[in-house]
Amino acid sequence: MSFIKAKPQARYDFYGKIHKGLRLAQSQLLVRLGACGGDDAVELALLLADLAGFLGMAEHHLENEDRWIHTALEARAPGAARGLAQDHAHHHHAFEELKTLMSGVRAADGENRARALHLLYLRFSRFMAADLEHMAEEEQLILPVLQSLFTDEELMGVEGEIVSRLDLDETIAFARLMIPASNPAERVDWAAGMRAAAPPEVFDAVMSLAAQPSLTPAAYAQLREGLGLEPAQAELSWGRTRS
Ligand SMILES: [Fe+2]
Repeated sequence: MSFIKAKPQARYDFYGKIHKGLRLAQSQLLVRLGACGGDDAVELALLLADLAGFLGMAEHHLENEDRWIHTALEARAPGAARGLAQDHAHHHHAFEELKTLMSGVRAADGENRARALHLLYLRFSRFMAADLEHMAEEEQLILPVLQSLFTDEELMGVEGEIVSRLDLDETIAFARLMIPASNPAERVDWAAGMRAAAPPEVFDAVMSLAAQPSLTPAAYAQLREGLGLEPAQAELSWGRTRS
């Protein structure tokens, strides 16, 4: 008989899916920045708008981590979030530089525009490298600390504080990245959680405006099956959305 009780260990991971979504967005933007010549005004305007939208989401993500996750971590392990806060400060600095470079692209023309685009591409690649490192550190070093300090219910509560403050447009925007970036089991797990917690109209909107347009018909059918939902007319709707 042992007098030493095993330390409770939570398993909940609130970083995994959103970080996969952010990695997907960054990868797509990096490729598009590298492939854009700057001559096609419509392509360029769309790319800069998508980059601006991504920066807004990334800022939002950092603010939520600062406000809810770092505060909770500091309360139980003072000093543990100091390195993360420094990383976030570097990210905010990167966002400002990227916005300045985006203005430079808009203001330039001809060869100068191609040069300005290349500078933006390289700065984005450096931000991405730093953020990939940062997110992996959060998942591999910080998450185990959180899981040793908090219960699963408490970790879900922290995530709930963040998710409950998203409006529908923000929920759809994050879901459009998280769903295709996740594997099939993670998609079912995430959508089932949303179905249980969110109003039915929000769940329906996520399925029709985020899951269906961002997955192949087969992957969308697999998600519906995993949720125990009737098959949808996925192929027809997917074709309409993507055309
Ligand atoms: Fe972070």
